[in-house]
Amino acid sequence: MAQLPDLSVEFAGISLRNPVIAASGTFGYGEEFAKFSDLCQIGGISVKGTSAHPIDGNPPPRLFPTASGMLNSIGLENVGVDAFMRDKMPFLRGVGCAIFVNVFGFTEDEYVEVVEKLNTCEGITAYELNISCPNTEHGGMVFGTNPGLTTRLTRRVKDRSRRPIVVKLSPNVTDIVELARAAQDGGADALSVANTYLGMAIDVETFKPRIHNITGGLSGPAIKPITLRMVYQITRALAIPVIGLGGIATGTDAVEYLLAGATAVQVGTANFHDPRAPLHVLKQMQRFLQRRGHSGVRSLIGKMNQ
Ligand SMILES: Cc1cc2nc3c(=O)[nH]c(=O)nc-3n(C[C@H](O)[C@H](O)[C@H](O)COP(=O)(O)O)c2cc1C
Repeated sequence: MAQLPDLSVEFAGISLRNPVIAASGTFGYGEEFAKFSDLCQIGGISVKGTSAHPIDGNPPPRLFPTASGMLNSIGLENVGVDAFMRDKMPFLRGVGCAIFVNVFGFTEDEYVEVVEKLNTCEGITAYELNISCPNTEHGGMVFGTNPGLTTRLTRRVKDRSRRPIVVKLSPNVTDIVELARAAQDGGADALSVANTYLGMAIDVETFKPRIHNITGGLSGPAIKPITLRMVYQITRALAIPVIGLGGIATGTDAVEYLLAGATAVQVGTANFHDPRAPLHVLKQMQRFLQRRGHSGVRSLIGKMNQ
C-alpha cells in the first residue's frame, strides 16, 4: 500500500499533527463537538474568545445567513478566564490535539491579565490574540486596525507570555501587510489571517436590521477570495508564518490557502453546517495529496505557480 502523505506542519515552535484547526467561536470549547468527531484527529482547536470576566454577548438576533456566508454579532459571549481554566481546560487537556486559547480584552491590561492567568494553566499550545472582533464597542477591532496599537499590545502580551503568540488580524483595513508587519514588530510568533468583514443586512418588510447590533461580521465562502488575497500578500512580503482562514469548507479550499502561503488553516462557519467539517476538510486534503503524488503537505506551502 502506498505510504500516506505526511500531514504534519511546524511553525513558531508549534507542532501540529496536521494543518487543520477548528476556528475560534465556531467550535465552542471542543467538548460540544466531541460526539460528532474524534477530536484528536484534527490538528488543533481554537477555543471561543476568552476575556478577563464572563461576557453575556449581544442581544438577539445575532446570526443571519447571507448569500454564501453568514453575518454574526455574538459579542464575544464567553465564560471568562477563571471558569475557562477550571471547567473547560480539563476536557481540552485530554483531547490530544493542539489547543489555541483565543484571548480578548477591552483594554491592553485585560489582555495581559488573561494571558498571565493562562500562563499558570497546563495543556495550552499557544495564545491567539483576537485584536479583530468587529462586534464589540471597545477593544477588539480598535487595536487591530491601528498599526501602533497592534505593535504595542502584541509587545506587552509577548513580554508576559510563556507561550507562542498568534495575532489574529482584522481584514477591515486598507493595507493588511502594514498591520501584519505591526504585529511582527511587536514580537508576534505567527498570524491568523483573518477575522470577519464588517457587514449588514436589512429586512425590507419591517425595515429593521437583521442583526440587533445593526452591523455584524461576515464569514463563510463569500469571503474566501478576499482573505486568500491577504494571506498571499502577507506571506510574500513577510517571513512570519500565517494560519489562513476564511470560507474554508473543503479540502481544496484549504489547499488554496496553503498554495497562497499559509502554513496551517482554520475551519469556521463550515462547522455550523457540518460539525465534522474540520475532519472532512482534512480527509479531502489527504486525498488531494495522494492523487497528486505529494509525499507531504509542506510541499504545497507558498507554491502557487505564477
Ligand atoms: C459565530 C462566530 C463567532 C466567532 N467568534 C470568534 C471569537 O470569539 N474570536 C475570534 O477570534 N474569532 C471569532 N470568529 C471568527 C472566526 O474564527 C473566523 O475568523 C471567521 O469566521 C472567518 O472564517 P470562516 O469563514 O471559516 O468562518 C467568530 C465567527 C463566527 C461565525
